[in-house]
Amino acid sequence: MAGNAYALRMATADDAGFLTDMLVAAVNWDRAREAVGRDRVLVDHRTAHYVEGWPRPGDLGVVAVEAGGQPIGAAWLRLFSSDDPGYGFVAEGVPELSVGVLPPWRGRGVGRALLSEIARAAVEGGFDRICLSVERANRARRLYAAAGFTTVGSGPDSDTMVMALSER
Ligand SMILES: CC(C)(COP(=O)(O)OP(=O)(O)OC[C@H]1O[C@@H](n2cnc3c(N)ncnc32)[C@H](O)[C@@H]1OP(=O)(O)O)[C@@H](O)C(=O)NCCC(=O)NCCS
Repeated sequence: MAGNAYALRMATADDAGFLTDMLVAAVNWDRAREAVGRDRVLVDHRTAHYVEGWPRPGDLGVVAVEAGGQPIGAAWLRLFSSDDPGYGFVAEGVPELSVGVLPPWRGRGVGRALLSEIARAAVEGGFDRICLSVERANRARRLYAAAGFTTVGSGPDSDTMVMALSER
């Protein structure tokens, strides 16, 4: 059973492996679907480019660590260009959010704390908006809406959401 205590810190280059773990968790949020393996996530550019070469200039990340220092969750931002957009791309200069928490720690406030801290870091980094893409059936959508993201675009199964940091 996991303890309750955790802390947040900024992500470093050493967190590339854990961020990849959280990317794989985000890709596989729907347990009813056949899981996509880590290798496939890293071979497919559409998913791999969320972590490739971490950290790049402009990248920002926050990692939640349990009392022993082991990572339990992460939220990170990466800028994409219009010729290589992420799923939640809205404009150049608006970084896209990825987030994941290890299963035993879900539903305990870690995701909410990560969102709040990455938004604070983004303001400090000079960004005025952050964006994301979420499949509409994912419960994470509710968390994003509660954190202040609003829907700015919709595909058949997913929404693009933006948080205006100046309004925080
Ligand atoms: C989405 C995720 C990062 C949220 O982190 P978390 O620590 O579980 O979230 P919190 O405990 O801070 O907040 C819980 C809120 O998130 C939502 N939520 C999303 N997934 C949840 C889960 N598996 N368990 C509980 N709550 C979940 C709920 O709406 C909940 O709000 P509520 O308390 O008002 O019901 C985490 O559940 C996760 O890693 N899921 C799998 C990966 C994923 O979906 N990533 C996002 C892809 S867009």
